[in-house]
Amino acid sequence: MARTFLPAAALLAGALLAGPAAAQTDPITRRADALIARMTLDEKLGQLTQLGAEVPGPNGETAEQLIREGKAGSVLWTFDSDLIARLQRVAVKESRLGIPLLFGYDVIHGYKNVFQVPLGLAATWDPALVERAQAMAAKESWVAGVNWTFTPMVDIARDARWGRIVEGAGEDTFLGVAMARAQVRGLQGPQLGTPERVLTSVKHFAAYGAADGGRDYDSVYVPEVQLRNVYLPPFQAAIDAGAGTVMSAYMTLNDVPASGNRWLLRDLLRGEMGFKGFVISDAFAVQSLQNHGFAADNPDAARRGLLAGVTMDMASNSYLRQLPALVKAGKVPMRQVDEAVREVLQVKLRMGLFERPYGAPERKAAVFNDPAHRAATREAAQRSMVLLRNEGGALPLAASLKRIAVIGPLADSGEDILGSWTVEKGVGVTVLQGIQARWPQAQVTFSRGGDMQRAYPLPWDADQGKPAPALMPAVEQQTELARAVDAARQAEVVVLVLGERANMSGEAASVASLALQGNQQALLEAVVATGKPVVLVLLNGRPLDISWASSRVPAILEAWFPGSEGGHAVADVLSGAINPGGKLPVTWPRSTGHVPAYYNHNRTHADETARTFTSRYSTDAPSSPLYPFGHGLSYTSFSYGAVTLDRSSARVGEPVTVSVTVRNTGAVAGDEVVQLYIHQRSGSAARPQRELKGFQRVHLAPGEAQTLRFTLGRRELQFWSPVTRAWGVEPAGFDVWVGGSSAATAHAEFTLTR
Ligand code: NOJ
Repeated sequence: MARTFLPAAALLAGALLAGPAAAQTDPITRRADALIARMTLDEKLGQLTQLGAEVPGPNGETAEQLIREGKAGSVLWTFDSDLIARLQRVAVKESRLGIPLLFGYDVIHGYKNVFQVPLGLAATWDPALVERAQAMAAKESWVAGVNWTFTPMVDIARDARWGRIVEGAGEDTFLGVAMARAQVRGLQGPQLGTPERVLTSVKHFAAYGAADGGRDYDSVYVPEVQLRNVYLPPFQAAIDAGAGTVMSAYMTLNDVPASGNRWLLRDLLRGEMGFKGFVISDAFAVQSLQNHGFAADNPDAARRGLLAGVTMDMASNSYLRQLPALVKAGKVPMRQVDEAVREVLQVKLRMGLFERPYGAPERKAAVFNDPAHRAATREAAQRSMVLLRNEGGALPLAASLKRIAVIGPLADSGEDILGSWTVEKGVGVTVLQGIQARWPQAQVTFSRGGDMQRAYPLPWDADQGKPAPALMPAVEQQTELARAVDAARQAEVVVLVLGERANMSGEAASVASLALQGNQQALLEAVVATGKPVVLVLLNGRPLDISWASSRVPAILEAWFPGSEGGHAVADVLSGAINPGGKLPVTWPRSTGHVPAYYNHNRTHADETARTFTSRYSTDAPSSPLYPFGHGLSYTSFSYGAVTLDRSSARVGEPVTVSVTVRNTGAVAGDEVVQLYIHQRSGSAARPQRELKGFQRVHLAPGEAQTLRFTLGRRELQFWSPVTRAWGVEPAGFDVWVGGSSAATAHAEFTLTR
């Protein structure tokens, strides 16, 4: 295996900690081992069990009973502070060994104050902001008693049909690495045990985002070359930033379920990648090793889960139920159980959980109502907005507007604007409310214009017998549409809000088509047909098929699911109070048939500069995206000077410094995300036509110029070669482009020699 994949420090730490000498000198391990020596088998398996707060125990016991008996290490799916405090007291005061519990929950993009969804966080291209946002989310969680969050999801997603693309940083590995690192630092702090922060779980290990056909939970086939170059680096970044736990994925990876995959969880994760925390399965993933047609029965699932390296079983109680007999029969060595328990206790000890087991529910109100938190959600949302199109200066809208029609089924939905994975159900500021507040003198009318809903209920709703939400009857949709058209006719401008409901994006929310759902396309066409100026605002968790709009609607703003203050943030941008500076973290395909549409694909056999071979879909549609990765407009304009290098030739191992001067050539101040892409022209394997290797978001006043520097060192230039089967930098010619998107044209070149 290629050890160069690991930073030297991680290797050294791994070597030091692995030996028996380390166990004797490390006080945390000594404390863990002292506890283990006193534990019964049931108590040990308890530490490896995460109970669903509402899921009954193996013999129908309640969570509280099991905790009292020491048969739980963690509880999930509750954010009820009273319940958490009560259960923690039972663990600490009433269980024999008093080991505190971890309370896990999906605090993905905020707790009480909701930030934009993670894809929108990535669209800021501002890791420092993302770190601050997650630190606030951590504090709100911690006071409530939730001391472990199942974040960040660092799965690279190249297929917009996959519903969970919304939970990650998009398609790019370099951006994904930056976002993974920022999120772990924000949530956990510089190290485990930082006050008012929480334990993170980086997920879903590994390559869950590469599901066949974008269908959630479906098989993943990813060759090693792609796994190492594309999917693993964000996990490595999260591990290097100290992520205390890793969540194993649901699906099969190259035919072996990720949660029963010894190579993945032991050799790669703990061995090569130097992970020192513990592995939590995804919910019921241990038990479902049987559903995969992998484990023969439930006992076999539990045995193979543990032996493969899943430390803690989420929700299925398989370890608690099955392992006692297997250990007694000698089919699972006690040594393996002890090793897993040690991992859990080490994390709890490093967190300081024994000293500080409780949150601070008495401070909840103060923390939740901290105006700085609410303000941060607005600022973060503003910075995530991507102006996709703005013909003829359609935006910003004039302050003097008197009649504005706000139209669309999402325009006044306080629930949908928050996106998926919200904790304490709340409502956000809607686009309608934001516009009313921003244009207090104007007459602002609202019409829904129709409806859209999921065709199938969410699986967990279906399990409880709940049907999919009823769709508005077709006749009523027609009436709503007609009303909307009327409203448009009365207005000076229409703000049309289209996209997805929160539950149409996220887990179990994959789609077969990226088309606008419900009657939204008809609504769009009818409103545009009025001839009124239309601004299209998108609320969604993935690129949708907006090809029709892209040539007929003058202004299109991608607002993602922007969170608690979302409506204000949208209005801030529409009015020009805020100049948008977000950039796409995904390539925007022209149609469903264009996915996967990621920018960093390889070249073909053809000379792609020759006219006849510029398109790969040569018959019916251009291959190019509707909007390239990294795209985003501004109310000002930027010019790029020549890309200069400190040397045109360097030795392998020496860094090359790239400089470029960016100038704001427009009339207003604005942000530009300056992006650097490279291409390696030859080598042991073909390399992508372009790869992001640097970015900086800068703020420039009108006329202001700034010279930015980027270093291309080992980290940026290396790749894992399927031929040498190692990470390395190769002697070759390299292209460099710098600009405002992956279509950047300012170019330079250099050569690396031996
Ligand atoms: C299943 C999801 O795949 C995972 O991301 C989540 O953290 C767990 N459920 C817990 O809710």
